[in-house]
Amino acid sequence: MTAIPATFRAYVAEKVQDRVERGVRDFTETDLPPGEIEIRVGWSSVNYKDGLATRADGKVARISPLIPGIDLAGEVVGSQDPSIPAGTAVLAHGYDLGVSRHGGYSEYQRVPAGWVVPLAPGLSPREAMAIGTAGFTAAMSVVVLEERGLQPDSGPVLVTGASGGVGGTALAILAERGYEVWAVTGKPEETERLRSLGASGILSRDEVTAEGRALDAERWAGAIDAVGGATLPYVLRTLKQGAAVAASGNAGGAKLETTVFPFILRGVALLGMNSVPVPIARRRALWDRLATDLRPRELGGHVTEVSLADLDGPLDAIVAGSARGRWVVRVAA
Ligand SMILES: NC(=O)c1ccc[n+]([C@@H]2O[C@H](COP(=O)([O-])OP(=O)(O)OC[C@H]3O[C@@H](n4cnc5c(N)ncnc54)[C@H](OP(=O)(O)O)[C@@H]3O)[C@@H](O)[C@H]2O)c1
Repeated sequence: MTAIPATFRAYVAEKVQDRVERGVRDFTETDLPPGEIEIRVGWSSVNYKDGLATRADGKVARISPLIPGIDLAGEVVGSQDPSIPAGTAVLAHGYDLGVSRHGGYSEYQRVPAGWVVPLAPGLSPREAMAIGTAGFTAAMSVVVLEERGLQPDSGPVLVTGASGGVGGTALAILAERGYEVWAVTGKPEETERLRSLGASGILSRDEVTAEGRALDAERWAGAIDAVGGATLPYVLRTLKQGAAVAASGNAGGAKLETTVFPFILRGVALLGMNSVPVPIARRRALWDRLATDLRPRELGGHVTEVSLADLDGPLDAIVAGSARGRWVVRVAA
């Protein structure tokens, strides 16, 4: 017995020889994976990993055809778990979603109950996807730094890749919590928008990717980096004594060339962030906080709304590094 219609619309990526064919097509309910919770998806979002999942050289998709979309939000329409009854507004992200199991770019989806996060009052499904996986990762990063002792009077905090999803949301969360936040961006035309999100100062990408000494002047009480590459070495050599950077991404490259001096002379810490396997209890608690004390400034104000049929452009743009805020995907017609 299922509450999902026999067929519905989904955006599908399918490997055909050395290409990936993408587009909206009819999808059959019996081709969805098993799971206790059936969801009518209202919203999804575009994350860097979704862009990679729809490219032949992306090394992310584990099945073909794949309905991508590493996050989704909507309403439960069928449930075998009494704690998450039909009618509940929920989201799901992480684990295998949109990678080795069909994801959010689908009018209906079926997921295990242990992946489902009931939405806190005060966070709509659209707002949840304006935050999405990128914003959840930003929140994780803030919490991990604060658990280590970071607080607004510790000093300025640096956020890299600030025009993008992780960076922009980290900036908006930190600013709302009273931090002095500095943003690194490769897009000078984004300066005003980043200031409106709460940036006290802006550094150019060129400034932070230039060749530097093993240690530079101590500047940052903490940092959130989703860029990696040539940016992370700058962050490490300018962190204050005992400070930490929460590192989650490689938008600027996967290779890390640094020295041991920030670690052995300043005691700085490089904290790896991985949102994918976060246990469900911690995931739910973090989402509850995203609706309250971690709610990003101007939530919903820096999103571009697209439909399933419009996805090709944003999926290509995010991998090309041209994100400006977040894309939310209106899935329900
Ligand atoms: N570990 C996890 O759990 C997790 C979760 C979510 C995302 N991620 C990773 O985090 C990264 C960012 O994801 P996102 O969704 O925020 O992507 P995004 O929206 O595309 O943002 C990335 C930002 O990085 C900057 N950037 C892009 N190319 C660059 C380059 N070549 N050199 C330096 N900076 C560059 C750009 O910001 P500026 O132009 O403003 O500099 C861009 O807007 C990705 O690598 C993604 O896979 C990891």
